Amino acid sequence: MTIIVTGGAGFIGSNFVFHMLKKYPDYRIICLDKLTYAGNLSTLKSVMDNPNFRFVKADICDREAVYKLFEEEHPDIVVNFAAESHVDRSIEDPGIFLQTNIIGTATMMDACRKYGIKRYHQVSTDEVYGDLPLDRPDLLFTEETPIHTSSPYSSSKAGADLLVMAYYRTYGLPCTISRCSNNYGPYHFPEKLIPLMIANALNDKPLPVYGEGKNVRDWLYVEDHCKAIDLIIHKGRVGEVYNIGGHNEMANIDIVKLICKELGKPESLITYVKDRKGHDMRYAIDPTKIHNELGWLPETKFADGIKKTIKWYLENREWWEEIVSGEYQNYYEKMYGNR
Ligand code: NAD
Ligand code: TYD
Repeated sequence: MTIIVTGGAGFIGSNFVFHMLKKYPDYRIICLDKLTYAGNLSTLKSVMDNPNFRFVKADICDREAVYKLFEEEHPDIVVNFAAESHVDRSIEDPGIFLQTNIIGTATMMDACRKYGIKRYHQVSTDEVYGDLPLDRPDLLFTEETPIHTSSPYSSSKAGADLLVMAYYRTYGLPCTISRCSNNYGPYHFPEKLIPLMIANALNDKPLPVYGEGKNVRDWLYVEDHCKAIDLIIHKGRVGEVYNIGGHNEMANIDIVKLICKELGKPESLITYVKDRKGHDMRYAIDPTKIHNELGWLPETKFADGIKKTIKWYLENREWWEEIVSGEYQNYYEKMYGNR
C-alpha cells in the first residue's frame, strides 16, 4: 500500500506519518509538502532514514509536480492535510487560503482521477459548520448540520469539501471527508492557542486572550485524530462525511489558566486583548456516526493530553524556540503589537 500524505511536515500530518509508519511497517508513506512557514523538515527527522518513507517538497497546486509524483509512486490512497490553517492569518490575507485550500484540493483530486486511486481522503474541519451559541449546550455539530462559515479560512475549507463531494458525484472519485475539532499535541505550531500559551508562559511573556476568553473549543488529542483517519481510509464508506470530536468542550480562559497552573506560572500573565474579527463562539462535535460505524472514540482525556503536551514542549524546546526566534517574531509583532 502506498499513501501520499500532503502537509506531512505540519502538525497533524506529521503525527499521522509517525502513526502510519509505526502501525503499518509494510506501507510506503510519501509526504508531499511545500514547507511553508508552518512546515518544518526537522519535525520529520526521525523518519527521514526510514526506507518506507519519502519526502517530496512540492506545492499541491503545482499540477506538473503532483502528476509526476503520481507517475512515480502509483499511490493507492491520498490523505490531504496540506492547507493554510490559521484563522487569524486568513483574516489578514485570504488569497493564499483560496489558492492552497481550494485549488490545491482540486489539483490533488484531478491527479487521482487521471491516474486512478482507491481512496482520496480530505481532512476538513468542524469550522465549516459555523458556530454554536454558549447557552444551548444541547446543540452539537452532526454531519447533517448545514455548512455556514465565518472566516476566510473556514470558507476555503468548505469550498474544498463541496468540491470533494462534487468529484464523488460527478466522476465517481472514491472520496471521504473528516471534519475534526481543535487538535492539540506535539509539533503544534506556536501560533495556535495551546502551544502559543505554553511557549509564552515558559518565557514569562503576556498570555494574550481574545475578548473575554469565553469562546469554547472541543479539544481532541492529535493521536486520537490520527487513529480516526486511519479507520476512515481503511473502513469508512466512500461519499461519506465523518465528524471527529474530543467530547471535551472547554472555554479558552480555562485552558490558559490550566496551562499556568501546570507550569507554575502566575495568572497575572494573562492579558485580555482585542477580540478576533467574526470570532466563532463555540464548536462542539457529535461523533456518534464514526463511533457507531467504525467503533472510534477519543481515548485521551484532556487532563492527561495537556500534561503530555506540556511535557513534550518542555523536552523539545529547541523545536519551538527555533520557530519563535525567527520570522515568527515579525508575525507576532504584527498580530499582537497593537492589540
Ligand atoms: P499546519 O499549518 O500545522 O500544517 C500545514 C502543512 O501543510 C505544513 O506542513 C505546510 O508546509 C503544508 N502546506 C501548506 N500549503 C501547502 C501547499 N500549497 N502545498 C503543499 N503543502 C502545503 O496544519 P495542521 O494544523 O496540521 O492542519 C492539517 C489539516 O487539518 C488542515 O487541512 C486543517 O485545515 C485541518 N484541521 C486542523 C485542525 C487543528 O486543530 N489543527 C482542526 C481541524 C482541521
Ligand atoms: P486557534 O488555536 O487559532 O484555533 P481556531 O481559531 O481555529 O479554533 O484558537 C483557538 C481559540 O483561542 C479561539 O477561540 C481563539 C483563541 N485565541 C486566543 O484567545 N489567543 C490567541 O493568541 C490565539 C492564537 C487564539
